[in-house]
Amino acid sequence: MTATAKPPVPATGRAPAVPIPELSDGFRWGVATSAYQIEGAADEDGRTPSIWDTFCRVPGAVAGGDNGDVACDHYHRVTDDVDLIAGLGVDAYRFSLAWPRVQPGGRGPANPRGIAFYDRLVDTLLDRGITPWVTLYHWDLPQELEDAGGWPARDTAHRFADYAELAHAALGDRVAHWTTLNEPWCSAMLGYDQGVHAPGRRDFGAAMHAVHHLLLGHGLAAQRLRAQAAPGLELGITLNLGHGSPATDSAQDREAARRADGLGTRIYLDPLVHGRYPEDVVAELGERGITLPVREGDLAAIATPLDVLGVNYYSSHRFAGTAEDGSAVDGEGRPVVRGVPFGRPRTAMDWEIVPEGLTSLLLRLHRDYGLPTVITENGAAFDDARAADGAVHDADRTAYLADHLRAVADARAAGADVRGYFAWSLFDNFEWAYGYEKRFGIVRVDYDTQRRTVKDSGAWYRDTVRLTRGH
Ligand code: FCB
Repeated sequence: MTATAKPPVPATGRAPAVPIPELSDGFRWGVATSAYQIEGAADEDGRTPSIWDTFCRVPGAVAGGDNGDVACDHYHRVTDDVDLIAGLGVDAYRFSLAWPRVQPGGRGPANPRGIAFYDRLVDTLLDRGITPWVTLYHWDLPQELEDAGGWPARDTAHRFADYAELAHAALGDRVAHWTTLNEPWCSAMLGYDQGVHAPGRRDFGAAMHAVHHLLLGHGLAAQRLRAQAAPGLELGITLNLGHGSPATDSAQDREAARRADGLGTRIYLDPLVHGRYPEDVVAELGERGITLPVREGDLAAIATPLDVLGVNYYSSHRFAGTAEDGSAVDGEGRPVVRGVPFGRPRTAMDWEIVPEGLTSLLLRLHRDYGLPTVITENGAAFDDARAADGAVHDADRTAYLADHLRAVADARAAGADVRGYFAWSLFDNFEWAYGYEKRFGIVRVDYDTQRRTVKDSGAWYRDTVRLTRGH
């Protein structure tokens, strides 16, 4: 912990920004978005449908029947939006490429009109002195590839590597920072096991195959990008991570925390960093009759060296190994892994606010995996509204950002190699299964008019960046 005082956050009005000395030295400040959540222009200039276009049409799949057809209309407003980013004084912008825009259908040559859009975005960013931080895959798989089996099918990994190479060939002369996947856990578990994200399948075994093929796709893409030997290439992957702990010191709760960590963190990071799947996870999958479809050479590809690990952090979790009625196995005879609330305030997503979990997580990642990290997403949804004065007084979001930046600073002070922070999100946007109902932006978007308004949290972030940089 450090002596820097946290600014008091008044109930309304703007909290004062203060410099964060631990984040002043070469630290990268940014804002983040993803293609399907903001671009709109769903069927323009040769873009083909993604699994999200399809999923949004499934009755009941997305709140309000919303979809990304228009979203923030960023596709048509890119220059103004980059000006807005520049006005926030950040030095980097994290965005994703829409695979079905760059390579319609997920096979074959690049689409020049799709590439032209990203050329424009990248060139405008560079012109304003902002570093582009590109994610290749933020969940919008071309529908044709899902029809051919999706991520549970091995071929999708090869298709992804081709797409990565073609995207890098188009933009790699100007873009140094490449993230292969955003949150493979969400793609696999929410998409193929829980069925609450596209493509909406519910099959745990398929989800585990998806895990391996996502990681393989990452590894093959990483090899291709490394082979192109672009000067200054900074290669990474982004995972959604939290700090998990046992709810009590009982053996059952510690066992539950271990299991949660296995399927939430180690199944990704062990192969990525150490080139092997965790033995306990492999054994437990085996007990369920599931074998990860690993072939010779896969793990070597997956362990292609990374320059940076992207961390998306929203909350942390405590786990119990017993159900509320005390039983240690669930209805299907499997060990119970139950989340136990901390009893903290929650965001509009119903996620508990646990900033110190970010410090613990970053220190754990540093200890167990040793990679430099960047927080590629952190932020909060709150039900904010425009006030009579036209502004958005989102003191709760400002407090969330302040507390989490403090947590990053504490991790840095304790020795973790954390190199940057991207606020999620630049804009209110299409929040997947929640549609437009949940607002994560530090900039408000009024969807009727597409008017953008920097919220109080956005102004606070801008001031914090400026003051910290000048420190
Ligand atoms: C992450 C996603 C991002 C956004 C935030 C709230 O899981 O990467 O697109 O939905 O959560």
